[in-house]
Amino acid sequence: MKFPETRLRRLRSTAVLRNMVRETTLTRNDLIMPLFVCPGQGVDNAISSMPGNSQLSVDKIVEKGKELWDKGVQSILLFGIPESKDEHGLVACTDDGIVQKAVRALKKEIPELYLIADICNCEYTSHGHCGTIVDGDVHNDLTLVTLAKQSVSLAESGVDMVAPSDMMDGRVRAIRSALDKKDFYNLPIMAYSAKYSSAFYGPFREAAESTPQFGDRKTYQMDPANSDEALREVALDIQEGADIVMVKPALNYMDIIHRVKSNFNMPVAAYNVSGEFSMVKAAAAKGWIDENRIVHEILTGLKRAGSDLIISYHTQEIIHQL
Ligand code: PBG
Repeated sequence: MKFPETRLRRLRSTAVLRNMVRETTLTRNDLIMPLFVCPGQGVDNAISSMPGNSQLSVDKIVEKGKELWDKGVQSILLFGIPESKDEHGLVACTDDGIVQKAVRALKKEIPELYLIADICNCEYTSHGHCGTIVDGDVHNDLTLVTLAKQSVSLAESGVDMVAPSDMMDGRVRAIRSALDKKDFYNLPIMAYSAKYSSAFYGPFREAAESTPQFGDRKTYQMDPANSDEALREVALDIQEGADIVMVKPALNYMDIIHRVKSNFNMPVAAYNVSGEFSMVKAAAAKGWIDENRIVHEILTGLKRAGSDLIISYHTQEIIHQL
């Protein structure tokens, strides 16, 4: 292959030709929209650090679900803000939990909308950590108990998929076996397998009211400097029964997405997290970037890197263009 016989500009000469040879195309099937459900009636509490996103009460989330479905969004990821919190996050494990209520209401009104529940304790514990605290740190194996309970309870409420985001060792196995015991053997698990301890979660913690009250999450979430370790995390989750593996955050971790996709024959999800979303929004508000082009470029880039699914707060604004 050499010049002048080969001229790569030939295939770039018209829009139709560029469309024909395009390697990566973003579709509606690729995108998942996160939503936050909170107590009350008629509540639409805007999240200031994430323009266009709100904490919504159950009635409002049903309205939102309909609106999204009509626009072409097929799947949402649910996070809960509970009425009260406790030391172990047990409020998330009962039939009248906030996400359970939202799931039942959404399933009743929009049965086709695919519902994924984030499984974690940080929104539900009084201390804001992702599990039960013993001697100042999250106790791995005790936390597995609440994670399994939360998953089974959400499965019973009618959720279509669970997505554990806590980063405890062995959680996929614990959740899989608890679900199977209750005959939910067909309910898929999307594991946040390579989840990094990241400053990009900043705006989310305001949205979900889940900032840790002491310390940080570095004893359970991954060190951003590590890459081989991500493959070990993914390998373990697959062994334990994960159906989809996730890399989170997305933009700073495209190399990880690529390594995971090329090392395992698995569907890979990327989480385009709150901080990544808010940086785009802030720059766009200042008129410094073309938001729509940037969003398409980011999401297409994540797909090109190897993600099959992308969880993104941008979903609701671009889905109609796909
Ligand atoms: C809960 C959880 C977090 C996110 C998803 N699930 C926050 C955290 O780990 O602190 C972050 C999502 C985002 O930033 O958009 N464990």
